[in-house]
Amino acid sequence: MSSRTNTDPLPVPRKIPFEFPDDIDPQWIPNEPELSAMLNGASLTMPYLEPFLIRTMRAAAEQLDDGALKQQALAFNMQEQHHFQAHRRFNEMLKSKRYPQLVQIEEQMKASYARLSQRSLRTRMAYTAGFESMTLGVTKWLIEERVKLFAGADSRAVSFVLWHMVEETEHKLVAFDVFRGLYKPTFMNGLVRMLGVFHGSFDVMRYSMRGYKSILKSEGRWTNLRSRWRLWSWMWAFVSYVFPFLFRAAMPGHNPRREADPQWVLDWLEGYARSDSGVAPLVDTHHPDIPVPFPRPEPARNLAA
Ligand SMILES: [Fe+2]
Ligand SMILES: [Fe+2]
Repeated sequence: MSSRTNTDPLPVPRKIPFEFPDDIDPQWIPNEPELSAMLNGASLTMPYLEPFLIRTMRAAAEQLDDGALKQQALAFNMQEQHHFQAHRRFNEMLKSKRYPQLVQIEEQMKASYARLSQRSLRTRMAYTAGFESMTLGVTKWLIEERVKLFAGADSRAVSFVLWHMVEETEHKLVAFDVFRGLYKPTFMNGLVRMLGVFHGSFDVMRYSMRGYKSILKSEGRWTNLRSRWRLWSWMWAFVSYVFPFLFRAAMPGHNPRREADPQWVLDWLEGYARSDSGVAPLVDTHHPDIPVPFPRPEPARNLAA
């Protein structure tokens, strides 16, 4: 085990009361049913994936001898808990309003994560750290491309998605550090970590794809060539942005500290800390930049004047 003491700032759990009332259209990005379906498919996985990450991290934390890293793991779990609880409410809205058939995919995920929970802690931690490394790419895609993706979309859904991505950035080091804290840097542990990058990422992508396929089928779009073309275009945008993160994460010597955080994320975190209200205002999806939803800080007074 590592004797290194973790001194990184703790991720801050923020239980923001996002609401998903009945007037949200399940196709919440106007004129983009395929992109809406992709993101709804990803949301569907969260109440199954994230509890698995939490259970894994809890089991791993019990074995850590670094108290500060243990605190990081617990803060990670608090954030993930808020995420999946919010996604569960969002998914309930999707199912009750338009896609009740998604419950079948939820049953499949429940069984799949029950099976995965029987695997060794090392495999589960590699999956956890691996999935989190893909999340960094997804975060950058959704945040840096937010105007292209979300212009004019329902700000309640967009604000919720972007909050999740901000907190993913904030805890980007934790799963990786816990894996390193528990497993010595041997060839075999390195290989397991590398395989975990693909195992975690492709497993979640597989269920997300089942989700969007089911949604598009129920809307009668799955066999429509134009719809298929638009879906492939968004898939290509996703793959070309996110897969380089996967390959970098799988490399020996990878460290998520080397992945720079988007400025929008840093501004959101700073704005939230300054607002001190415990809530996040909704983002303005009609603004040409979709800026962070907090007022800018007052300019410092010139005391010499
Ligand atoms: Fe999360
Ligand atoms: Fe996460």
